[in-house]
Amino acid sequence: MLYRKFNKTGQDVSLLGMGTMRLPLAEDGSIDEATAIEMIHHSIDQGINYVDTAYMYHKGKSEELVGKALKDGYREKVLLADKMPVWLAKDEEKMKEIFETQFERLDVDCIDMYLVHSVDGPIWRRAQKFNLMDFLYEKQAEGKIKHIGFSFHGDLDLFKEVIDMYDWDFCQIQLNYMDKEFQAGVEGLKYAASKGIPVIIMEPLKGGKLTDKLPASVKELWDNAPVKRTPAEWGLRWVANHPEVMCILSGMSNPEQLAENLRIMDQAQPNSLTEEELAIIDKASAEYNKLIQYSCTECRYCMPCPKKIDIPDNISYYNEWFLYDGNPKVKADFFTFTIEGRRASACVACKACEEKCPQHLPIAEIMAKTADLFEK
Ligand SMILES: NC(=O)c1ccc[n+]([C@@H]2O[C@H](COP(=O)([O-])OP(=O)(O)OC[C@H]3O[C@@H](n4cnc5c(N)ncnc54)[C@H](OP(=O)(O)O)[C@@H]3O)[C@@H](O)[C@H]2O)c1
Repeated sequence: MLYRKFNKTGQDVSLLGMGTMRLPLAEDGSIDEATAIEMIHHSIDQGINYVDTAYMYHKGKSEELVGKALKDGYREKVLLADKMPVWLAKDEEKMKEIFETQFERLDVDCIDMYLVHSVDGPIWRRAQKFNLMDFLYEKQAEGKIKHIGFSFHGDLDLFKEVIDMYDWDFCQIQLNYMDKEFQAGVEGLKYAASKGIPVIIMEPLKGGKLTDKLPASVKELWDNAPVKRTPAEWGLRWVANHPEVMCILSGMSNPEQLAENLRIMDQAQPNSLTEEELAIIDKASAEYNKLIQYSCTECRYCMPCPKKIDIPDNISYYNEWFLYDGNPKVKADFFTFTIEGRRASACVACKACEEKCPQHLPIAEIMAKTADLFEK
């Protein structure tokens, strides 16, 4: 396992981190506990020292599972990360209750890495309204949490604003070769690093959408590349190639994926991909992008929507459906990451957004198609 420095403490952090949002499942859809615990133990035995969970993963069962897996001496070997889902709290009291519940589920005295979960505009405003940062500093002073960070799903401007607002210990962004300019993107990665803030990566394989149901043109590129690598290896190597990345979380859903990713992270040195290899990855990304249906640039001029629909997000899921060949993960993500009542089906075709869209997209029509595709 390769390690990169956590500059705040001088600690070595494993390049591969254990994400626990996509744990192996039993037939009834619950976590396959024995396999999941075995995988977490194996990952730590093989040198992984970062384990990431969250309040809502696996409907609250991920935290419990991680708590169980970290018994018998494993807790001391890892940095444990958990997050505050402020959108689930109706007020400050509920937020504090969630925090207590996390400790009960995990059965630990301290969480090493604590994040404001999934920051975007509305979530960041809510976090401020509930004085979340004051609460976290208080808990840090009490020794309940060690390092304070945030995970991010908003746009680049907001990312820079949030980075500049507090003396963060670390942050977490989505990054893969399809999302170079999406959300924080590569520019955000470099911005955080320029301020000395370590960056953890999530969704390095776009939640698995870069590893299965490959378009024929992408498969051909990988097949004809001078070095033979699996799609997972191309994806992970691209992320690891950035020296600014401290740790890459992958939500591995079986022992084979864990074994492969452990092997990859033994070799993925920063700046180790050749110009030729990077060009092949760029071509793969371009091939995927040819499948995009509507070229929304996510400028967000269309917002706010009177029905509170996140229009760019909905368009993005619609596009992803075609990009990743109707991969059921796109539909699952749509329901996980959009809010009920604010999805495409809430559109009343007032077209206020269309007047503002610099790309002149037929947004009402796209919302109807998105609703048909996912919500019917
Ligand atoms: N804070 C946040 O807002 C937030 C958001 C997202 C994620 N996260 C965290 O970040 C972690 C990583 O994100 P992620 O789970 O989306 O990571 P990811 O690596 O992009 O996606 C994981 C999926 O990729 C596929 N995969 C992984 N390794 C593979 C391999 N060697 N070969 C083939 N397929 C492979 C598997 O999909 P299949 O087996 O299904 O094909 C797996 O379930 C999460 O687990 C979670 O802990 C946080």
